[in-house]
Amino acid sequence: MSPGVDSALLTPAEGPAAPAAAPVPGATETVLVLDFGSQTSQLIARRVREARVYCELVPGTTPAAEIRRRRPAGLILSGGPASVFAADAPRPDPEVYRLGVPILGICYGLQLLAHDLGGQVEPSLRREYGPATVIVDEPGLLFAGLPARLPVWMSHGDVIRRPPDGFRVVAHSQESPVAAMRDGAGRIGIQFHPEVVHTAMGQEILRNFLYRICGCAGTWEAAGFIDTAVAGVRERVGTERVICALSGGVDSAVTAALVHRAVGDQLTCIFVDNGLLRRGEGDRVVDVLTRSMRMDIRRIDAQAHFLGALAGVVDPEEKRRIIGREFIAVFETAARELGRVPFLAQGTLYPDVIESTAWDTPHAHTIKTHHNVGGLPERMQFRLVEPLRALFKDEVRQVGGGLGLPDDVVRRQPFPGPGLAIRIIGPVTAERLETVRAADWVVIDEMKRTGLYHRVWQSFAILTPISSVGVMGDHRTYANVVAVRIVESQDGMTADWARVPSDVLADISRRIVGEVPGVNRVVYDISSKPPSTIEWE
Ligand code: XMP
Repeated sequence: MSPGVDSALLTPAEGPAAPAAAPVPGATETVLVLDFGSQTSQLIARRVREARVYCELVPGTTPAAEIRRRRPAGLILSGGPASVFAADAPRPDPEVYRLGVPILGICYGLQLLAHDLGGQVEPSLRREYGPATVIVDEPGLLFAGLPARLPVWMSHGDVIRRPPDGFRVVAHSQESPVAAMRDGAGRIGIQFHPEVVHTAMGQEILRNFLYRICGCAGTWEAAGFIDTAVAGVRERVGTERVICALSGGVDSAVTAALVHRAVGDQLTCIFVDNGLLRRGEGDRVVDVLTRSMRMDIRRIDAQAHFLGALAGVVDPEEKRRIIGREFIAVFETAARELGRVPFLAQGTLYPDVIESTAWDTPHAHTIKTHHNVGGLPERMQFRLVEPLRALFKDEVRQVGGGLGLPDDVVRRQPFPGPGLAIRIIGPVTAERLETVRAADWVVIDEMKRTGLYHRVWQSFAILTPISSVGVMGDHRTYANVVAVRIVESQDGMTADWARVPSDVLADISRRIVGEVPGVNRVVYDISSKPPSTIEWE
Protein backbone atom coordinates (compact mmCIF):
# COMPACT_ATOMS: atom_id res chain seq x y z
CA MET A 1 0.00 0.00 0.00
CA SER A 2 1.36 3.35 -0.91
CA PRO A 3 0.77 5.95 1.79
CA GLY A 4 -0.63 9.23 0.59
CA VAL A 5 -1.52 7.94 -2.84
CA ASP A 6 -3.87 5.19 -1.88
CA SER A 7 -5.77 5.33 1.31
CA ALA A 8 -7.55 8.66 1.44
CA LEU A 9 -9.94 7.88 -1.39
CA LEU A 10 -11.31 5.03 0.61
CA THR A 11 -12.56 7.19 3.45
CA PRO A 12 -14.69 9.76 1.68
CA ALA A 13 -16.53 12.49 3.50
CA GLU A 14 -19.66 10.35 3.45
CA GLY A 15 -18.12 7.57 5.51
CA PRO A 16 -16.36 4.32 4.76
CA ALA A 17 -17.04 2.35 1.64
CA ALA A 18 -19.64 -0.38 1.95
CA PRO A 19 -20.29 -3.29 -0.38
CA ALA A 20 -22.47 -2.37 -3.33
CA ALA A 21 -26.11 -2.74 -2.36
CA ALA A 22 -28.21 -5.29 -4.23
CA PRO A 23 -29.81 -5.48 -6.61
CA VAL A 24 -27.05 -4.28 -8.86
CA PRO A 25 -28.08 -2.83 -12.21
CA GLY A 26 -28.70 -5.59 -14.71
CA ALA A 27 -28.40 -8.42 -12.17
CA THR A 28 -31.48 -10.58 -11.84
CA GLU A 29 -29.87 -13.43 -9.93
CA THR A 30 -27.13 -13.17 -7.35
CA VAL A 31 -24.79 -15.68 -5.81
CA LEU A 32 -23.02 -14.69 -2.61
CA VAL A 33 -19.56 -15.83 -1.59
CA LEU A 34 -19.27 -16.02 2.18
CA ASP A 35 -15.65 -15.03 2.55
CA PHE A 36 -13.57 -16.75 5.18
CA GLY A 37 -10.35 -15.04 4.20
CA SER A 38 -9.05 -17.16 1.35
CA GLN A 39 -6.60 -15.59 -1.07
CA THR A 40 -8.89 -16.84 -3.83
CA SER A 41 -12.26 -15.54 -2.60
CA GLN A 42 -12.22 -12.71 -5.13
CA LEU A 43 -11.28 -15.16 -7.81
CA ILE A 44 -14.34 -17.28 -6.99
CA ALA A 45 -16.53 -14.21 -7.50
CA ARG A 46 -14.83 -13.46 -10.81
CA ARG A 47 -15.26 -17.01 -12.03
CA VAL A 48 -18.96 -16.93 -11.14
CA ARG A 49 -19.37 -13.70 -13.05
CA GLU A 50 -17.54 -15.24 -15.98
CA ALA A 51 -20.33 -17.81 -15.93
CA ARG A 52 -22.64 -14.80 -16.27
CA VAL A 53 -24.09 -14.93 -12.79
CA TYR A 54 -23.77 -11.79 -10.71
CA CYS A 55 -21.72 -12.50 -7.60
CA GLU A 56 -20.57 -10.58 -4.55
CA LEU A 57 -18.40 -11.27 -1.55
CA VAL A 58 -19.82 -10.81 1.92
CA PRO A 59 -18.10 -11.50 5.23
CA GLY A 60 -18.33 -15.17 6.19
CA THR A 61 -20.07 -14.22 9.41
CA THR A 62 -22.89 -12.20 7.79
CA PRO A 63 -26.16 -12.86 9.69
CA ALA A 64 -28.56 -15.24 7.97
CA ALA A 65 -31.31 -12.58 7.99
CA GLU A 66 -29.09 -10.27 5.96
CA ILE A 67 -28.31 -13.05 3.51
CA ARG A 68 -32.02 -13.91 3.18
CA ARG A 69 -32.76 -10.28 2.42
CA ARG A 70 -30.43 -10.48 -0.58
CA ARG A 71 -32.43 -13.46 -1.92
CA PRO A 72 -29.40 -15.25 -3.35
CA ALA A 73 -29.78 -18.07 -5.85
CA GLY A 74 -26.85 -19.85 -4.19
CA LEU A 75 -24.14 -19.49 -1.57
CA ILE A 76 -20.48 -20.37 -1.80
CA LEU A 77 -18.49 -20.82 1.40
CA SER A 78 -14.93 -19.85 0.52
CA GLY A 79 -11.71 -21.41 1.66
CA GLY A 80 -9.71 -19.77 4.38
CA PRO A 81 -6.54 -20.05 6.40
CA ALA A 82 -8.24 -21.15 9.64
CA SER A 83 -8.86 -24.66 10.93
CA VAL A 84 -12.39 -25.48 12.09
CA PHE A 85 -10.81 -26.57 15.38
CA ALA A 86 -9.45 -23.11 16.20
CA ALA A 87 -11.41 -21.27 18.87
CA ASP A 88 -11.45 -18.08 16.83
CA ALA A 89 -12.21 -19.80 13.52
CA PRO A 90 -14.71 -17.69 11.57
CA ARG A 91 -18.05 -19.49 11.21
CA PRO A 92 -21.24 -18.78 9.32
CA ASP A 93 -24.43 -18.03 11.21
CA PRO A 94 -25.83 -21.62 11.73
CA GLU A 95 -29.13 -20.47 10.23
CA VAL A 96 -27.33 -20.08 6.91
CA TYR A 97 -27.30 -23.85 6.52
CA ARG A 98 -31.08 -23.88 6.85
CA LEU A 99 -32.00 -21.13 4.41
CA GLY A 100 -33.00 -23.64 1.76
CA VAL A 101 -30.52 -22.05 -0.66
CA PRO A 102 -27.99 -24.32 -2.42
CA ILE A 103 -24.55 -24.16 -0.80
CA LEU A 104 -21.14 -25.00 -2.22
CA GLY A 105 -18.42 -25.23 0.42
CA ILE A 106 -14.91 -25.03 -0.96
CA CYS A 107 -12.00 -26.41 1.10
CA TYR A 108 -12.44 -24.68 4.49
CA GLY A 109 -16.06 -24.19 3.41
CA LEU A 110 -16.40 -27.98 3.05
CA GLN A 111 -14.84 -28.49 6.46
CA LEU A 112 -17.28 -26.01 7.98
CA LEU A 113 -20.22 -27.87 6.44
CA ALA A 114 -18.91 -31.19 7.70
CA HIS A 115 -18.06 -29.92 11.16
CA ASP A 116 -21.11 -27.75 11.77
CA LEU A 117 -23.60 -30.35 10.51
CA GLY A 118 -22.25 -33.16 12.69
CA GLY A 119 -19.65 -34.92 10.54
CA GLN A 120 -16.12 -35.72 11.59
CA VAL A 121 -13.18 -33.56 10.57
CA GLU A 122 -9.65 -34.28 11.67
CA PRO A 123 -6.23 -32.81 11.15
CA SER A 124 -4.40 -34.66 8.42
CA LEU A 125 -0.97 -36.11 9.12
CA ARG A 126 0.21 -34.71 5.83
CA ARG A 127 -0.83 -31.36 4.51
CA GLU A 128 -2.05 -31.82 0.93
CA TYR A 129 -0.86 -28.96 -1.22
CA GLY A 130 -0.64 -28.78 -4.98
CA PRO A 131 -1.91 -30.85 -7.88
CA ALA A 132 -3.93 -34.00 -7.16
CA THR A 133 -6.36 -36.31 -8.90
CA VAL A 134 -9.93 -36.62 -7.75
CA ILE A 135 -11.88 -39.77 -8.58
CA VAL A 136 -15.57 -39.09 -9.10
CA ASP A 137 -17.63 -41.89 -7.58
CA GLU A 138 -21.07 -40.45 -8.31
CA PRO A 139 -21.26 -37.67 -10.90
CA GLY A 140 -24.70 -36.35 -9.90
CA LEU A 141 -25.37 -32.79 -11.05
CA LEU A 142 -22.09 -31.29 -9.86
CA PHE A 143 -19.84 -33.46 -12.00
CA ALA A 144 -22.32 -34.02 -14.84
CA GLY A 145 -20.61 -34.32 -18.19
CA LEU A 146 -17.12 -34.46 -16.68
CA PRO A 147 -14.55 -37.27 -16.74
CA ALA A 148 -14.29 -39.66 -13.79
CA ARG A 149 -10.72 -38.56 -13.02
CA LEU A 150 -10.23 -34.84 -12.50
CA PRO A 151 -6.93 -33.00 -12.13
CA VAL A 152 -7.46 -30.52 -9.30
CA TRP A 153 -5.61 -28.15 -6.98
CA MET A 154 -5.64 -28.99 -3.29
CA SER A 155 -4.52 -26.91 -0.35
CA HIS A 156 -5.63 -28.12 3.05
CA GLY A 157 -4.51 -29.47 6.38
CA ASP A 158 -7.72 -30.96 7.79
CA VAL A 159 -9.66 -33.80 6.16
CA ILE A 160 -13.19 -35.13 6.49
CA ARG A 161 -13.29 -38.61 8.03
CA ARG A 162 -17.06 -38.98 8.11
CA PRO A 163 -19.64 -36.77 6.39
CA PRO A 164 -22.64 -35.55 8.39
CA ASP A 165 -25.81 -37.65 8.41
CA GLY A 166 -27.73 -37.26 5.20
CA PHE A 167 -24.57 -36.59 3.15
CA ARG A 168 -23.04 -38.96 0.59
CA VAL A 169 -19.41 -39.08 -0.43
CA VAL A 170 -19.37 -38.49 -4.19
CA ALA A 171 -15.63 -38.18 -4.88
CA HIS A 172 -12.33 -39.05 -3.22
CA SER A 173 -8.60 -38.61 -3.74
CA GLN A 174 -5.58 -40.43 -2.43
CA GLU A 175 -5.21 -38.15 0.58
CA SER A 176 -8.84 -37.11 1.01
CA PRO A 177 -11.41 -39.86 1.62
CA VAL A 178 -14.04 -37.15 1.14
CA ALA A 179 -13.02 -34.97 -1.80
CA ALA A 180 -16.68 -34.12 -2.43
CA MET A 181 -19.92 -34.73 -0.56
CA ARG A 182 -23.53 -33.72 -1.01
CA ASP A 183 -26.92 -34.12 0.61
CA GLY A 184 -30.35 -34.16 -1.00
CA ALA A 185 -30.98 -30.47 -0.28
CA GLY A 186 -28.39 -28.91 -2.57
CA ARG A 187 -25.68 -28.66 0.07
CA ILE A 188 -22.33 -29.62 -1.40
CA GLY A 189 -18.75 -29.53 -0.23
CA ILE A 190 -15.57 -30.00 -2.23
CA GLN A 191 -12.07 -30.30 -0.88
CA PHE A 192 -10.30 -28.80 -3.91
CA HIS A 193 -10.32 -25.32 -5.46
CA PRO A 194 -12.41 -25.13 -8.66
CA GLU A 195 -11.61 -21.40 -9.06
CA VAL A 196 -7.89 -21.74 -9.77
CA VAL A 197 -6.54 -22.48 -13.23
CA HIS A 198 -4.77 -25.63 -12.04
CA THR A 199 -8.15 -27.30 -11.61
CA ALA A 200 -8.59 -27.90 -15.31
CA MET A 201 -12.36 -28.35 -15.29
CA GLY A 202 -13.03 -26.02 -12.39
CA GLN A 203 -15.16 -23.65 -14.42
CA GLU A 204 -17.37 -26.52 -15.62
CA ILE A 205 -17.87 -27.59 -12.00
CA LEU A 206 -18.83 -24.05 -11.00
CA ARG A 207 -21.18 -23.82 -13.95
CA ASN A 208 -22.83 -27.09 -12.98
CA PHE A 209 -23.36 -25.71 -9.50
CA LEU A 210 -24.77 -22.45 -10.80
CA TYR A 211 -26.95 -23.72 -13.63
CA ARG A 212 -27.95 -27.24 -12.60
CA ILE A 213 -28.09 -26.89 -8.84
CA CYS A 214 -28.93 -23.22 -8.21
CA GLY A 215 -31.05 -23.00 -11.35
CA CYS A 216 -29.38 -19.81 -12.56
CA ALA A 217 -30.02 -18.74 -16.13
CA GLY A 218 -26.68 -16.93 -16.56
CA THR A 219 -27.91 -13.59 -17.82
CA TRP A 220 -25.46 -11.21 -16.14
CA GLU A 221 -23.53 -9.09 -18.58
CA ALA A 222 -21.46 -6.09 -17.63
CA ALA A 223 -22.34 -4.13 -20.75
CA GLY A 224 -26.04 -4.62 -19.96
CA PHE A 225 -25.39 -2.67 -16.81
CA ILE A 226 -24.79 0.61 -18.64
CA ASP A 227 -28.37 1.90 -18.98
CA THR A 228 -29.28 1.32 -15.36
CA ALA A 229 -25.96 2.70 -14.15
CA VAL A 230 -26.49 5.83 -16.25
CA ALA A 231 -29.95 6.27 -14.75
CA GLY A 232 -28.44 5.81 -11.27
CA VAL A 233 -25.84 8.53 -11.85
CA ARG A 234 -28.51 10.87 -13.20
CA GLU A 235 -30.67 10.34 -10.17
CA ARG A 236 -27.82 10.87 -7.73
CA VAL A 237 -26.42 13.96 -9.37
CA GLY A 238 -29.61 15.71 -10.46
CA THR A 239 -28.73 19.06 -12.00
CA GLU A 240 -25.49 19.52 -10.04
CA ARG A 241 -22.00 19.58 -11.48
CA VAL A 242 -19.52 16.69 -11.35
CA ILE A 243 -15.74 16.70 -11.53
CA CYS A 244 -13.61 13.73 -12.56
CA ALA A 245 -9.84 13.29 -12.47
CA LEU A 246 -8.54 11.49 -15.54
CA SER A 247 -5.34 9.53 -15.05
CA GLY A 248 -4.77 8.25 -18.55
CA GLY A 249 -5.83 4.77 -17.42
CA VAL A 250 -8.89 2.63 -18.10
CA ASP A 251 -10.90 3.09 -14.92
CA SER A 252 -11.06 6.87 -14.93
CA ALA A 253 -11.73 6.99 -18.68
CA VAL A 254 -14.66 4.57 -18.38
CA THR A 255 -15.99 6.40 -15.32
CA ALA A 256 -15.87 9.70 -17.18
CA ALA A 257 -17.54 8.22 -20.26
CA LEU A 258 -20.35 6.74 -18.17
CA VAL A 259 -20.95 9.89 -16.14
CA HIS A 260 -20.81 11.93 -19.30
CA ARG A 261 -23.47 9.79 -20.89
CA ALA A 262 -25.60 10.40 -17.80
CA VAL A 263 -25.18 14.12 -17.25
CA GLY A 264 -23.36 15.50 -20.30
CA ASP A 265 -21.99 18.98 -19.81
CA GLN A 266 -22.49 18.91 -16.06
CA LEU A 267 -19.26 16.89 -16.04
CA THR A 268 -15.84 18.53 -16.16
CA CYS A 269 -12.71 16.38 -16.27
CA ILE A 270 -9.31 17.39 -15.05
CA PHE A 271 -6.33 15.69 -16.53
CA VAL A 272 -3.17 16.38 -14.57
CA ASP A 273 -0.37 15.49 -16.95
CA ASN A 274 2.42 14.66 -14.53
CA GLY A 275 4.82 13.85 -17.34
CA LEU A 276 5.26 10.31 -15.99
CA LEU A 277 2.99 8.52 -18.47
CA ARG A 278 3.89 6.17 -21.30
CA ARG A 279 4.43 7.70 -24.71
CA GLY A 280 1.24 9.06 -26.24
CA GLU A 281 -0.92 7.69 -23.45
CA GLY A 282 -2.42 10.86 -22.00
CA ASP A 283 -2.87 12.39 -25.45
CA ARG A 284 -4.77 9.37 -26.67
CA VAL A 285 -7.31 9.35 -23.82
CA VAL A 286 -7.87 13.09 -23.96
CA ASP A 287 -8.18 12.94 -27.72
CA VAL A 288 -10.80 10.16 -27.65
CA LEU A 289 -12.86 11.78 -24.93
CA THR A 290 -12.81 15.27 -26.38
CA ARG A 291 -13.20 14.41 -30.04
CA SER A 292 -15.69 11.57 -30.06
CA MET A 293 -17.49 12.34 -26.82
CA ARG A 294 -17.08 16.12 -26.75
CA MET A 295 -16.23 16.09 -23.12
CA ASP A 296 -15.09 19.18 -21.26
CA ILE A 297 -11.52 18.34 -20.27
CA ARG A 298 -9.05 20.72 -18.59
CA ARG A 299 -5.56 19.51 -19.25
CA ILE A 300 -2.87 20.75 -16.92
CA ASP A 301 0.70 20.36 -18.05
CA ALA A 302 2.47 19.73 -14.77
CA GLN A 303 5.56 17.82 -15.87
CA ALA A 304 7.98 20.52 -14.76
CA HIS A 305 6.16 20.80 -11.46
CA PHE A 306 6.45 17.04 -10.77
CA LEU A 307 10.05 16.83 -11.93
CA GLY A 308 10.93 19.71 -9.62
CA ALA A 309 9.28 17.99 -6.67
CA LEU A 310 11.00 14.68 -7.45
CA ALA A 311 14.47 16.15 -7.96
CA GLY A 312 17.12 14.06 -6.21
CA VAL A 313 14.59 11.66 -4.63
CA VAL A 314 15.61 7.99 -4.76
CA ASP A 315 13.43 6.26 -2.17
CA PRO A 316 10.45 4.56 -3.91
CA GLU A 317 7.92 5.27 -1.16
CA GLU A 318 9.08 8.87 -1.01
CA LYS A 319 8.51 9.12 -4.76
CA ARG A 320 4.98 7.80 -4.30
CA ARG A 321 4.26 10.20 -1.46
CA ILE A 322 5.50 13.19 -3.43
CA ILE A 323 3.52 12.25 -6.52
CA GLY A 324 0.37 11.77 -4.42
CA ARG A 325 0.85 15.07 -2.64
CA GLU A 326 1.62 17.07 -5.76
CA PHE A 327 -1.35 15.53 -7.55
CA ILE A 328 -3.62 16.76 -4.80
CA ALA A 329 -2.11 20.25 -4.90
CA VAL A 330 -2.49 20.59 -8.66
CA PHE A 331 -5.96 19.04 -8.73
CA GLU A 332 -7.19 21.21 -5.88
CA THR A 333 -6.10 24.41 -7.58
CA ALA A 334 -7.75 23.36 -10.83
CA ALA A 335 -10.95 22.28 -9.07
CA ARG A 336 -11.19 25.56 -7.18
CA GLU A 337 -11.16 27.46 -10.44
CA LEU A 338 -14.33 25.66 -11.48
CA GLY A 339 -16.40 27.18 -8.68
CA ARG A 340 -18.98 25.08 -6.85
CA VAL A 341 -18.88 21.40 -7.87
CA PRO A 342 -20.47 19.10 -5.30
CA PHE A 343 -19.76 15.71 -6.89
CA LEU A 344 -16.55 13.82 -7.60
CA ALA A 345 -16.72 10.87 -10.00
CA GLN A 346 -14.23 8.19 -9.17
CA GLY A 347 -13.18 4.90 -10.78
CA THR A 348 -13.42 2.75 -7.66
CA LEU A 349 -13.71 -0.92 -8.62
CA TYR A 350 -15.11 -3.90 -6.75
CA PRO A 351 -11.71 -5.19 -5.55
CA ASP A 352 -11.08 -1.74 -3.97
CA VAL A 353 -14.46 -1.99 -2.25
CA ILE A 354 -13.73 -5.46 -0.93
CA GLU A 355 -10.26 -4.56 0.25
CA SER A 356 -11.33 -1.40 1.98
CA THR A 357 -14.25 -3.00 3.79
CA ALA A 358 -13.24 -4.38 7.17
CA TRP A 359 -14.59 -7.92 7.24
CA ASP A 360 -15.36 -8.80 10.82
CA THR A 361 -13.15 -11.85 10.81
CA PRO A 362 -9.76 -12.16 12.40
CA HIS A 363 -8.55 -13.72 9.17
CA ALA A 364 -8.87 -10.77 6.89
CA HIS A 365 -7.41 -10.53 3.39
CA THR A 366 -3.92 -9.48 2.72
CA ILE A 367 -4.56 -5.88 1.96
CA LYS A 368 -3.04 -4.35 -1.10
CA THR A 369 -4.59 -1.40 -2.76
CA HIS A 370 -3.18 0.69 -5.51
CA HIS A 371 -5.14 3.50 -7.04
CA ASN A 372 -4.43 5.38 -10.14
CA VAL A 373 -5.58 8.76 -8.97
CA GLY A 374 -4.32 10.30 -5.78
CA GLY A 375 -6.47 10.53 -2.70
CA LEU A 376 -8.17 13.83 -2.10
CA PRO A 377 -8.19 15.51 1.27
CA GLU A 378 -11.44 15.40 3.18
CA ARG A 379 -11.60 19.18 3.35
CA MET A 380 -12.63 19.14 -0.29
CA GLN A 381 -15.93 17.60 0.86
CA PHE A 382 -17.03 16.04 -2.39
CA ARG A 383 -19.95 13.68 -2.61
CA LEU A 384 -18.83 10.60 -4.49
CA VAL A 385 -20.16 9.12 -7.69
CA GLU A 386 -18.66 5.66 -8.15
CA PRO A 387 -20.54 3.96 -10.97
CA LEU A 388 -18.04 1.10 -11.35
CA ARG A 389 -17.88 -0.01 -7.74
CA ALA A 390 -19.66 -3.31 -8.41
CA LEU A 391 -17.36 -4.31 -11.27
CA PHE A 392 -14.16 -6.24 -11.79
CA LYS A 393 -11.52 -4.91 -14.14
CA ASP A 394 -12.45 -7.12 -17.09
CA GLU A 395 -16.07 -6.00 -16.70
CA VAL A 396 -14.96 -2.35 -16.71
CA ARG A 397 -13.28 -3.02 -20.04
CA GLN A 398 -16.56 -4.46 -21.39
CA VAL A 399 -18.49 -1.44 -20.16
CA GLY A 400 -15.89 0.84 -21.76
CA GLY A 401 -16.34 -0.98 -25.06
CA GLY A 402 -20.13 -0.71 -24.68
CA LEU A 403 -19.74 3.05 -24.21
CA GLY A 404 -17.81 3.30 -27.46
CA LEU A 405 -14.26 3.66 -26.12
CA PRO A 406 -11.72 2.13 -28.50
CA ASP A 407 -9.84 -1.07 -27.73
CA ASP A 408 -6.46 0.58 -27.36
CA VAL A 409 -7.85 2.63 -24.49
CA VAL A 410 -9.93 0.00 -22.68
CA ARG A 411 -7.64 -2.97 -23.15
CA ARG A 412 -4.47 -1.27 -22.00
CA GLN A 413 -2.17 -3.13 -19.68
CA PRO A 414 -2.25 -1.91 -16.06
CA PHE A 415 0.05 0.98 -15.30
CA PRO A 416 1.03 2.20 -11.83
CA GLY A 417 -0.26 5.56 -10.63
CA PRO A 418 3.26 6.89 -9.93
CA GLY A 419 4.04 5.99 -13.53
CA LEU A 420 7.50 5.86 -14.99
CA ALA A 421 8.96 7.45 -11.84
CA ILE A 422 9.02 4.01 -10.17
CA ARG A 423 10.56 2.45 -13.27
CA ILE A 424 13.61 4.68 -13.05
CA ILE A 425 15.76 3.29 -10.28
CA GLY A 426 17.41 6.30 -8.68
CA PRO A 427 16.68 9.97 -9.28
CA VAL A 428 14.09 10.95 -11.89
CA THR A 429 15.34 13.47 -14.44
CA ALA A 430 13.87 14.65 -17.74
CA GLU A 431 16.61 12.80 -19.61
CA ARG A 432 16.17 9.50 -17.77
CA LEU A 433 12.39 9.78 -18.23
CA GLU A 434 12.88 10.09 -21.95
CA THR A 435 15.18 7.05 -21.94
CA VAL A 436 12.78 4.78 -20.09
CA ARG A 437 9.81 6.06 -22.08
CA ALA A 438 11.53 5.32 -25.38
CA ALA A 439 12.58 1.83 -24.21
CA ASP A 440 9.05 1.18 -22.94
CA TRP A 441 7.65 2.17 -26.32
CA VAL A 442 9.83 -0.42 -28.04
CA VAL A 443 8.69 -3.16 -25.64
CA ILE A 444 5.01 -2.32 -26.16
CA ASP A 445 5.44 -1.96 -29.90
CA GLU A 446 7.10 -5.36 -30.26
CA MET A 447 4.57 -7.04 -27.99
CA LYS A 448 1.75 -5.66 -30.11
CA ARG A 449 3.48 -6.53 -33.36
CA THR A 450 3.87 -10.14 -32.29
CA GLY A 451 0.33 -10.40 -30.91
CA LEU A 452 1.61 -11.00 -27.38
CA TYR A 453 0.51 -7.69 -25.82
CA HIS A 454 -2.89 -8.91 -24.66
CA ARG A 455 -1.61 -12.35 -23.68
CA VAL A 456 0.48 -11.05 -20.80
CA TRP A 457 -0.40 -8.99 -17.74
CA GLN A 458 2.26 -6.33 -18.16
CA SER A 459 5.30 -5.75 -20.37
CA PHE A 460 7.58 -2.81 -19.76
CA ALA A 461 11.10 -1.45 -19.39
CA ILE A 462 12.99 -0.39 -16.28
CA LEU A 463 15.94 1.97 -16.34
CA THR A 464 18.52 0.53 -13.95
CA PRO A 465 21.10 2.70 -12.18
CA ILE A 466 23.85 0.58 -13.73
CA SER A 467 26.13 1.56 -16.57
CA SER A 468 28.02 -1.09 -18.46
CA VAL A 469 30.72 -1.24 -21.08
CA GLY A 470 29.78 -1.93 -24.66
CA VAL A 471 31.15 -1.62 -28.12
CA MET A 472 29.43 0.12 -31.01
CA GLY A 473 31.33 0.14 -34.28
CA ASP A 474 34.91 0.89 -33.29
CA HIS A 475 33.89 2.76 -30.18
CA ARG A 476 33.82 1.67 -26.62
CA THR A 477 30.63 2.81 -24.87
CA TYR A 478 29.77 3.15 -21.24
CA ALA A 479 26.01 3.47 -21.03
CA ASN A 480 22.76 2.53 -19.30
CA VAL A 481 21.43 -0.97 -18.72
CA VAL A 482 17.69 -1.38 -19.37
CA ALA A 483 15.78 -4.28 -17.85
CA VAL A 484 12.72 -5.72 -19.56
CA ARG A 485 9.95 -7.16 -17.40
CA ILE A 486 7.14 -9.20 -18.95
CA VAL A 487 4.82 -11.03 -16.59
CA GLU A 488 1.76 -13.22 -16.64
CA SER A 489 -0.73 -12.79 -13.85
CA GLN A 490 -4.44 -13.10 -13.04
CA ASP A 491 -4.73 -10.08 -10.81
CA GLY A 492 -1.27 -8.68 -10.05
CA MET A 493 -1.17 -10.35 -6.63
CA THR A 494 1.05 -13.16 -7.86
CA ALA A 495 2.89 -13.27 -11.15
CA ASP A 496 5.32 -15.31 -13.20
CA TRP A 497 7.82 -14.06 -15.75
CA ALA A 498 6.56 -14.70 -19.25
CA ARG A 499 8.33 -17.32 -21.37
CA VAL A 500 8.40 -15.00 -24.36
CA PRO A 501 9.99 -16.57 -27.48
CA SER A 502 13.68 -15.76 -27.59
CA ASP A 503 13.46 -14.16 -31.03
CA VAL A 504 10.93 -11.64 -29.68
CA LEU A 505 13.32 -10.83 -26.84
CA ALA A 506 16.14 -10.55 -29.37
CA ASP A 507 14.14 -8.00 -31.40
CA ILE A 508 13.26 -6.02 -28.30
CA SER A 509 16.89 -5.93 -27.22
CA ARG A 510 18.21 -5.03 -30.67
CA ARG A 511 15.70 -2.22 -31.10
CA ILE A 512 16.22 -0.72 -27.64
CA VAL A 513 19.98 -0.59 -28.07
CA GLY A 514 19.61 0.66 -31.63
CA GLU A 515 16.86 3.24 -31.08
CA VAL A 516 17.24 4.53 -27.55
CA PRO A 517 20.20 6.85 -27.05
CA GLY A 518 22.31 6.11 -24.01
CA VAL A 519 21.48 2.39 -23.71
CA ASN A 520 23.97 -0.33 -24.64
CA ARG A 521 22.65 -3.40 -22.81
CA VAL A 522 19.28 -5.07 -22.19
CA VAL A 523 18.59 -7.75 -19.58
CA TYR A 524 15.43 -9.83 -19.07
CA ASP A 525 13.94 -10.18 -15.59
CA ILE A 526 13.26 -13.85 -14.79
CA SER A 527 11.86 -13.46 -11.28
CA SER A 528 8.35 -14.35 -10.23
CA LYS A 529 6.15 -12.71 -7.60
CA PRO A 530 6.56 -13.68 -4.84
CA PRO A 531 9.33 -13.35 -3.86
CA SER A 532 9.93 -10.42 -6.22
CA THR A 533 7.29 -7.82 -7.05
CA ILE A 534 6.15 -6.87 -10.52
CA GLU A 535 7.51 -3.34 -10.38
CA TRP A 536 11.11 -2.88 -9.33
CA GLU A 537 10.28 -0.10 -6.88
P1 XMP B 1 3.77 -4.94 -7.48
O1 XMP B 1 4.97 -4.19 -7.93
O2 XMP B 1 3.31 -4.55 -6.11
O3 XMP B 1 2.61 -4.52 -8.48
O4 XMP B 1 3.94 -6.42 -7.62
C1 XMP B 1 1.34 -5.13 -8.55
C2 XMP B 1 0.51 -4.32 -9.53
O5 XMP B 1 0.27 -3.02 -9.00
C3 XMP B 1 0.84 -2.02 -9.83
N1 XMP B 1 1.43 -1.02 -8.94
C4 XMP B 1 0.88 0.16 -8.66
N2 XMP B 1 -0.25 0.75 -9.11
N3 XMP B 1 0.16 2.64 -7.76
C5 XMP B 1 -0.59 1.99 -8.67
O6 XMP B 1 -1.60 2.54 -9.12
C6 XMP B 1 1.32 2.13 -7.26
O7 XMP B 1 1.98 2.75 -6.44
C7 XMP B 1 1.69 0.83 -7.74
N4 XMP B 1 2.75 -0.01 -7.48
C8 XMP B 1 2.56 -1.12 -8.23
C9 XMP B 1 1.84 -2.74 -10.70
O8 XMP B 1 2.03 -2.07 -11.94
C10 XMP B 1 1.21 -4.10 -10.85
O9 XMP B 1 0.21 -4.11 -11.86
